[in-house]
Formats: sequence, C-alpha cells, structure tokens
Amino acid sequence: MKKLLITLNVNGRDVEFACAPNQTLLDALRLDLALTGSKRGCDDSSCGACTVEVDGEPMLACTLLAAACEDRRILTVEGIAEHGALAAIQKAYGEWGGAQCGFCTPGFMIAVHSLLARNPDPSEDEIRAALGGNLCRCTGYNQMYQAVKAAIDAEKAGRRAF
Ligand code: FES
Ligand code: FES
Repeated sequence: MKKLLITLNVNGRDVEFACAPNQTLLDALRLDLALTGSKRGCDDSSCGACTVEVDGEPMLACTLLAAACEDRRILTVEGIAEHGALAAIQKAYGEWGGAQCGFCTPGFMIAVHSLLARNPDPSEDEIRAALGGNLCRCTGYNQMYQAVKAAIDAEKAGRRAF
C-alpha cells in the first residue's frame, strides 16, 4: 500500500512521517512517534484507554485515522505537564491513589484535562459523565473522582493566588 507523507502536530510540535492511508492515530503515536502513553485496550472504541485530545476534544485514537488528523492539534498524556511540572490532575492522582496498575490512567488524564479546559468547575454529575467512556479494570473509580475534585480545588486555589 502506498504511504502518505503527513505532518501531525503533537504536543505542540510538528512531526512529519510516512503512514499508510489506513493507519490509526494510535499506531502512529505508539509505533512511529514512540509516544507510548496512549494505551491500546480494546482497539474498538469501547474502553477509552487510547483517549487523546484532537483540537481540544477527547477522541479515541484507536479508531481514528492518522491521515485525518493532519493540521489538527493533538495532545497526548506526554504533553499535559506544564513547563516541566506535573499538571494538577497528575499530582492529585498520585496523592489520592487514582492509579492502580496505571493502564487506564493516560486515557483518564486526557479526559479530565479536556473536561477542565471546557469547564473549570464541573459538578459531580458532569465529572462522571465526562469520564463515563473510560473504563478501569482495577475499579478504582472513587479514588479517581476524589483526585479530579482535588485537582479542581488546586486549580481554583491557584487562580485565587494570582
Ligand atoms: S483502545 Fe481505543 S477505546 Fe479502547
Ligand atoms: S488502574 Fe488498572 S486499569 Fe485502571
């Protein structure tokens, strides 16, 4: 199959590479760009482990063609740290035990990141709805929700400090 030369903007950086027309974004990230944070759980849009942001919206990289993402902004878990420091949700996950085996964590991080970018003060129902497409086989959901709330409080306190 003839390959296409495409440029993706990933975590603020343009990267050019050759990909097959049917290559998924998840394969491009993991295999071509060595960004292995996004995970392959189900490979059929069921689990959320591969969630990345595309132009600010959470999307499932396992069923999205890489070539369809040209000229769009892609954010992976590797890009959510801010100026070399952990993002509030990353710190809160550590403090609240939001990760057990950690396999689902990158997808949850991106889902939370995009929720808070759209809505900095979500209600409990809004948090649960935003994370409803992400599954955790270790079933640590309560700790995750506590971590999200802690991250929201930390962001609010940070905003008040300026
Ligand atoms: S690997 Fe993409 S949704 Fe499960
Ligand atoms: S922490 Fe293990 S799958 Fe979620």
